[in-house]
This record gives sequence, C-alpha cells and structure tokens, in this order.
Amino acid sequence: MVKPIIAPSVLAGDFAQLGCECHRMFKCNADWVHLDVMDGHFVPNLTMGPPIISSLRKAVPRDESQPGKFFFDCHMMVANPEQWVPEIADAGGDQYTFHYEATKDPVGLVKLIKKHGMKAACAIKPGTPVDVLYPLAEHLDMALVMTVEPGFGGQSFMADMMPKVENLRAKYPHLNIQVDGGLGPKTIPAAAKAGANVIVAGTSVFKAEKPEDVIQLLRDYVSKELESRGLLE
Ligand code: DX5
Ligand code: ZN
Repeated sequence: MVKPIIAPSVLAGDFAQLGCECHRMFKCNADWVHLDVMDGHFVPNLTMGPPIISSLRKAVPRDESQPGKFFFDCHMMVANPEQWVPEIADAGGDQYTFHYEATKDPVGLVKLIKKHGMKAACAIKPGTPVDVLYPLAEHLDMALVMTVEPGFGGQSFMADMMPKVENLRAKYPHLNIQVDGGLGPKTIPAAAKAGANVIVAGTSVFKAEKPEDVIQLLRDYVSKELESRGLLE
C-alpha cells in the first residue's frame, strides 16, 4: 500500500529565508520538503550543499514523537553521488535520491545510503529508459521519474514520461514513485492517473496565493487514483 506524499521543492522558494520557507510548507500540510542539490557538473546549475542542509535541519528539527515528520527529501543532482552520502546524512537528510546516470554501482550506492541511516532512492533523467530500474527496485525506497531535464525549476512537464510511471506502478504496486518537474494543478491528473504517488512541486506551490489549496488539490488527485487501484494506504 502507498500513500500520497506532497513534497514542495524549495528551489522555488526564497533562498534567504529557507528555514521559514520549510516551516511555511509544513504549515500548509506538505508531507516532505524536496531539497535540490546541484553541483554544476551533473547539471548546469549550482544550488545548495551539506552546510545549508545542516543549517536547515537546525531550523527545522526532527520531532522524535512523530517519526518521519519534517522529512528532508534530498535530490542529489551531482556527478559523484557516493562522495556526499556521509555528509548529507550528518547534515540531517532523510532520503538520498541519486541519479542512475551518475553512478557505476547503483546497488552498492543504495547499500551505502542505507548504512548511513537514510532512505535510498534512484532517479532517471528523461532520456534514460525505465528498465534500468528493474534490477534495483527491490532495494529502493523510492524511484524518481524526472518529468523535466534536471537543473532548473519552472520548466514544462513532459507528459511523454508517463508510460515510465505506468510501467513502474504495474510492476511494483507498493513502491513509492515520485515525479519531479512541472507538476501543478494542470499536470497532476496525468501523473496521478499514471500511478505516481510522490509529487514534487516547486513553482506551482511556492508561487500560489494559497499553497495549502494547491497541496490539497495534488493530494486529492493522487488519493483518488490510488483508491481506484486499491492501493491507498
Ligand atoms: C529540477 C528539480 C525540481 C524543480 C521542480 O531539476 O529537480 O525539483 O525544483 O520545480 P518545478 O515544480 O518548478 O518544475
Ligand atoms: Zn528535484
């Protein structure tokens, strides 16, 4: 069974107030916050790294009485994902999503991530076929199907990625399947219908007048589709 998880991407937030932006999203009922780590090599952009995540964790401490609350979903768009596992774990990351394209040993990397106490997820870029995830799926906490070329917020959703999501959901009914890029009220119907349950949304949530309404709308679409498949937790 799976549940809807809405993960606003702070890439669309105000970087001078990242702690407040995380709190704002959790107050609006976000399940996770999505932290886009970019190194200027794997993608042509630079964002944040372990020192910022560590400061953010101090601003948004874990709540021991509610495990999984204030979850930091770290999307690692970096060339050498093995290198940053210990630092992201120490900084307070809860999940480490590496890119399949960036590693030679995905299974070894998953084990390393888990050894450091984080959940492990693998992302594929739009040009990467979904079947590379098959040998990995049993080891993963989540698969991420990118719906834009990684690197920048505010791009258009690629609906032609939805067959990858459908395929994964058919093969792995209980896997967390995330979509990232261009998600919002207009594009959630296609993503939810294909079977995605973890929705990253930057621009559509952060720029909304009422982010809580957008988060609720995204959640409602996912819940409805999961329920119709008999998969809603
Ligand atoms: C793109 C990032 C996304 C991005 C999504 O490389 O991985 O997380 O912030 O932003 P929107 O929702 O604006 O497309
Ligand atoms: Zn992302």
